[in-house]
Amino acid sequence: MGLGSEYSRRMDFDRIIDRSGTLSLKWDNPKNVPGKPGIIPLWVADMDFAAPPAVLEAIGKRAMHPIFGYTTATRGYSEAVSAWYAARQGLELQPDDVFMGPAVIPGIAAALQAFTEKGDAVMINPPVYHPFFSSPEDNERRVVAVPLARGAEGDWAMDFEAMEKAAAEAAASGSPIRAIIVSSPHNPVGRVWSEGELESLLAFARRRDLALICDEIHSDIILGDRPFRSMASVAGPGARKLVVLSGPNKTFNIAGLHICNVIARDPDTRRAMTRVLGAWGFDLPNAFSLAAAMAAYREGAPWLDELLEYLRGNYRFLLDFLAERVPGIGVSKLEGSYLAWLDIHALLERLGEGKSERNFALRLEEEGRVRLSPGSGFGKEGEGYLRLNLACPRSLLAEGLERFTRLIG
Ligand SMILES: Cc1ncc(COP(=O)(O)O)c(C=O)c1O
Repeated sequence: MGLGSEYSRRMDFDRIIDRSGTLSLKWDNPKNVPGKPGIIPLWVADMDFAAPPAVLEAIGKRAMHPIFGYTTATRGYSEAVSAWYAARQGLELQPDDVFMGPAVIPGIAAALQAFTEKGDAVMINPPVYHPFFSSPEDNERRVVAVPLARGAEGDWAMDFEAMEKAAAEAAASGSPIRAIIVSSPHNPVGRVWSEGELESLLAFARRRDLALICDEIHSDIILGDRPFRSMASVAGPGARKLVVLSGPNKTFNIAGLHICNVIARDPDTRRAMTRVLGAWGFDLPNAFSLAAAMAAYREGAPWLDELLEYLRGNYRFLLDFLAERVPGIGVSKLEGSYLAWLDIHALLERLGEGKSERNFALRLEEEGRVRLSPGSGFGKEGEGYLRLNLACPRSLLAEGLERFTRLIG
């Protein structure tokens, strides 16, 4: 019996798998103490579902071989990845265009090191995944935050006018912006950017000669009608100073294995990235990550299709639950990722909590025993919002939402 057999009979996303005691960031919460209900974690972005059976089997098979020496990603890896992007995203790559990296966050740091200097300005569009602030700051770059705006229909949008203005001001001050980091699909607001927006973004980056760092880690989790398009496809072959970071971590729930795909379609960009990653010693992959990723890309498509249907169901469940039980909470349209962005301004006002969703989130965790991410963790533009990870068995989501409603009375 292989390691995957226990999970391989059916793709049973309703099944609750006990993750406690696995050193899980999400589940092994020190606030879980005897005498109190365990905290339901609807925060950090991993899923409470078993990885695809093919992945479990590949890891099990690799584990059965008793030697864990240095491992190398052969051409087979880039071929499996290229075939995946062609089939799922319509992105046609040459095998050389993509190589394996350690994880997306180190990939962002490497791109900053490769294309910017100490003290250079880097643009981001908050509210956004918090390492977009910390990675430039930790690498001694200066963050220029140009917040997302609201489009005509109330949806979140990139504010190209404000971005242009910020770039012009930075250039006039003698410290021009050298790079922009973009989340696509966007964590936390859930947007899948349109063709038009991606083209405008590319034009902006080219006009200002910026390195364009696109974090596409959520690109396989598309829940709405708008198809995802990779910036690597919009920009086409030979695109200079474009680094797309993507990978199997979110798609197949293997974030703890740490692996990513670096897409760079021009040799100079590729060399710049491999030089930095090599200097950090990130040139050889982990044996288990590689085995898992290859199996996932070769055999994981049916699992992913079922997962997406299940996540769409959870999203509908969330919308129905909130409409019925907690009216007044706005939910941004979730086009991509499994992270719902909840506007709780009105709720905070009703509860007399002031503006701070952070205190409320703390109360939710400690008294309500359900943990969500406070919006201000994504920049001050996230104040008054909560992010909810809905990638868990529906019964768990339901219990988390029940606890939420119980706390607010
Ligand atoms: C937008 C985004 N980028 C990157 C990551 C982390 O990627 P990795 O674990 O590959 O560093 C996450 C995880 O939540 C994410 O949401």
